[in-house]
Parts: sequence; structure tokens; C-alpha cells
Amino acid sequence: MNDLALNLLLEKIISDRENPEEAECNLWILDENLAPSDITQGTAKSKIPLTLICNRLDLQQQLKTNKVTSTFSDFDFSGFEDNSVDRIFYRVSKEKTVVHHIINQAFRVLKPGGTLAIAGYKNEGAKTYIDKASKLFNGAISKSKGGQSSHFAIISKGSASHGKILDDKDYAHTRSINTRSNDQDFSFISKPGQFGWNKTDKGSELLIQLLPEVIRKRHTPAETMLDLGCGYGYLSLMAASLEGLEMLNLQQITATDNNAAAILSCEENLKTTGKNYNVIADNCAHGIRGRFDLVLCNPPFHQGFSVDNDLTRMFLEQAHKRLHAKGDAVFVVNQFIPLERKAQDLFGKITLLAENDGFKVIHCKR
Ligand SMILES: C[S@@+](CC[C@H](N)C(=O)[O-])C[C@H]1O[C@@H](n2cnc3c(N)ncnc32)[C@H](O)[C@@H]1O
Repeated sequence: MNDLALNLLLEKIISDRENPEEAECNLWILDENLAPSDITQGTAKSKIPLTLICNRLDLQQQLKTNKVTSTFSDFDFSGFEDNSVDRIFYRVSKEKTVVHHIINQAFRVLKPGGTLAIAGYKNEGAKTYIDKASKLFNGAISKSKGGQSSHFAIISKGSASHGKILDDKDYAHTRSINTRSNDQDFSFISKPGQFGWNKTDKGSELLIQLLPEVIRKRHTPAETMLDLGCGYGYLSLMAASLEGLEMLNLQQITATDNNAAAILSCEENLKTTGKNYNVIADNCAHGIRGRFDLVLCNPPFHQGFSVDNDLTRMFLEQAHKRLHAKGDAVFVVNQFIPLERKAQDLFGKITLLAENDGFKVIHCKR
């Protein structure tokens, strides 16, 4: 789908000119909503120097080839001093706390007179975000509307703002979450800015219910595990806490994700397991070597707004590559995803373990 909100922002990035009298600092904030092709188009045609701040490693890696500075972080602005940035470009994110964090940080780092160009659809809250940011910034504002209720504004930072900083739920920091999972109390560490950051996923719960069944069928104890697309580390935490299974003796957990907030949280969680662990920011384990006895995966089925079926295939291929000859890969996906068919030419044995609540759990062996 053509992202009209993004188009409004791109027009601005492309039409802005550099001020020849001063060295400029301009930031473009990128998240999972954005496709690399759009970003490449923007950076290639832009006439101003741009620094990209991106929370998705695969995206940031693809952008390295451009003549722009691209950084990977959980929207960390700590490297920018107060009142030091000229322009910020931002297409609003899906999560309110992320948007509030970015507006607050933009307010801090922009020079007086510096501008925030912000775009999004009405149903994403764009209009409200623009209103909130303009109150906080207390400077000039120019607003425009595009098709399909897309909104765009350029908001200048006034020199004397008494506006209220937006509630970002202490975005930058991890915190403890207490909940229930599979009818038991469950505590973990997490933070906003990632998939289901403050809850447990029903599909992943189902996978964990069925994991003992997979382990019992093994002939040697599983010692190494790969958590592929780990999020805050739910599957790792649960696997590490499984007790009384003869064929499970986890010595090493490797967890990987492409999202910066997930990496920060998972690292904190795996510290608590007492196991050797590695938490690696990577694009679908492409940089991970070695093979594992167990691969657990609840793969994403969309990147940003578009459902991308190739993602399932990429996760299957990587799981296959990283699995020991006698290893077990266990996936959970939405029932409508044809994972079995996509796995057919990769794995020798594919078993549907259960279907429930719109999810299915599938066990694959080489
Ligand atoms: C459905 S969530 C599962 C999270 C966690 N494993 C759980 O069970 O709750 C999918 C995860 O895959 C991650 N992901 C998406 N694309 C990825 C990629 N290209 N490489 C690595 N991880 C990715 C997302 O950030 C997200 O954390």
C-alpha cells in the first residue's frame, strides 16, 4: 500500500535545502513502518545531510550503503546535546509511548527555531500528536492534509516553552512486569518499543505447553537452544525454567532479534536464568554460527503494515540452517500461515502438534 503520510514527509525531506552558512545536524527517525526502498529514495534525493536513527537492525544494515550516517538504537538520543539539532523528520510509530518519547526528545535536542516535520494517519493518532507537539514546542506551526486522512505538520521550537513533556511511560528504561502465563505467576523484565512488550503471547504459551512433549522424544539431552526472534525472551525464560525433564539439560541459550528494545530487555531477562547466554542483535540469525539442539520460534508475519509471507520462509530457512542433524525446531504461527507447506523442502519430518485459539504449533526435524 502506498503510504500517503510517508509521502508527505518524503516531499519535505527532498525539498529542504541546506543552509550554506552552518554545519547542519538533521535526524530522520525510522521504525518498522518504513520500507528500505522509501528511505533510500528519500536519502538519495535529499539535499541536506541526514543522520538516520533506526531501532531495527536489518533496516539500518540495508541503509549503511547510502551516503548517510545510520545508527541502530532504541531511539537513543543521548548522543545529542540539548538545543543542538536543526531538523527532525518523523513518520509516527504505531506505539504511543514511542511517539511520545520521540516528540519529547525532539523538543530537547532541537535548537530554538529548529523544526520537527511529523506525518501520520488520523487513525494512528497523528492529529493528536501534532496538537500535543505544537503545545509543547510553542513555536510556529504549518499543517497540511493529504489523501485518506493523512496529516503532516512542521512544528518549530519556540524559545520559551512552558509546555508539558508528554507521558512516555519512562520509555528508555526496562522495568519489571508481573503477569500470569499458562496459569502460573510470571515475572519478567521489559520495556516499550517492541512486540507485545508487557504481556505474554498466547501462541508462545501454547508452544511452551507442548515443548515437554518434544523434549521427551529426544534420545540425547538438549544442551543448546536458539530463540529466533526472541522479543523480551519469553521462550528462553520458559525453556530455562522447565524442570524434571531427562532430555533437557540447557547449558547455553542464544537469543536473537532485530529490534533494539527487545535486545535490551532479553539481555536483562537471560541474566536471571543462571545459564550461559548470548543475546545478539541480528537480522534473522544471519550472523549467527554453529548449530543448536533446539530452535524455538514464534516468527513475525508482518513487517510494519504489510503482511510479508517471505518472512516465514526466511525464519524457516534460518532455523533449518542452525539446527543439529538430530535437533528439534518448534514453531508457533497463526493458523492461516501455511508454514507446513513452506517448510516441506527443508525439513524431513514436519508434525502438527496442536491447534488452538487461532494458533498452531509445528515440530520440524531435519
Ligand atoms: C511474534 S514476535 C515473538 C516474540 C517472542 N519470541 C515471544 O514469543 O513472545 C516476533 C519477534 O520477531 C522479531 N523480528 C521481526 N523481524 C525480525 C528479523 N528480521 N530478525 C530477527 N527478529 C525479527 C520481532 O522484533 C519480534 O520480537
